[in-house]
Amino acid sequence: MQASAIAHPNVALIKYWGKRDTEQNLPATGSLSLTLAGLATRTRVSFDPALRADTVSVNGAEDAKAAVGVARCLDRLRAIAGSRDFARVDSENDFPTGAGLASSASGYAALVTAAAAALNIAGHDAERANIARQGSGSAPRSLYDGIVLLENTDDGIACRSVSAPAAWPLSVLVAVTSRAPKSVGSTEGMERSRLTSPCYPGWLETHPADLQAALESVACRDFEALAKVSEHSCLKMHALAMSAQPALVYWNAATMAAMQVVRDLRAAGTPVFFTIDAGPQLKAVCLPEAAPVVKAALSECPGVLELVECSLGEGARVSEP
Ligand code: DP6
Repeated sequence: MQASAIAHPNVALIKYWGKRDTEQNLPATGSLSLTLAGLATRTRVSFDPALRADTVSVNGAEDAKAAVGVARCLDRLRAIAGSRDFARVDSENDFPTGAGLASSASGYAALVTAAAAALNIAGHDAERANIARQGSGSAPRSLYDGIVLLENTDDGIACRSVSAPAAWPLSVLVAVTSRAPKSVGSTEGMERSRLTSPCYPGWLETHPADLQAALESVACRDFEALAKVSEHSCLKMHALAMSAQPALVYWNAATMAAMQVVRDLRAAGTPVFFTIDAGPQLKAVCLPEAAPVVKAALSECPGVLELVECSLGEGARVSEP
């Protein structure tokens, strides 16, 4: 009744920002992401008949806030397995938590993978994705390898890899510009954008075409086309956040400086583009041969505290304890 799993965060190229059902945590749109080797969450789940409730620790400290979402996912898995036992969940991130590096995505992907293995229900793949998204809408994408598509279905979501890591290798340089947790999390940020941004209807209207263009560029390995549509989706998402009331500005001065570095590099012919999630970290996506140049340029950028180089990684999997 115990198992461990490892999962990597993912970074969205075509963003999820807004829900069609807040209660069920269903995204309004599909999304496309990269699973990142190089950053990892390791989670151990131990079901124990002696426990009176689920307990969750993240990086060694009890996390009552995370426990609510964790219990929701575990309840679904217990129902499938016919178990009533509560669990102790111990999760460790080897990167800053809650700072726009998708720790919730890798966290929930590792959780459902470890818990399903501990309960011996590891075969239920499609259900795992729908259970993970109840914890975090971006989490199902961390269950899969490489470049990952999440699509809406009538009653939930479906998720799959559209390109294995070796099929089109890409490098991602994560420029950490702050290690502080963000002040407004994604859940609240996207809900505020949906309810108050005048740009939200335009986001919904134009999103399917962005997703289609990105999928086509992946299918024919057209880096320039993927760069254009990914930066467009990123900036449109931040335009929603900035035009919400009260406004949400996730960037700091270093985020903007790093963005300019990437734009200048691409204008000079380097195959690189940027994306930014709900936090101040910038992710530069490039062809592997351009990684040294991109790394050198970003390391000189004022305010960049650390650069983490990632390749595309595998989806969540059961690991040694
Ligand atoms: C900006 O998946 O963290 O990273 O479903 O409310 O937990 P909840 O939101 P979450 O939001 C991710 C937002 C994003 C874009 C993306 O990953 O697609």
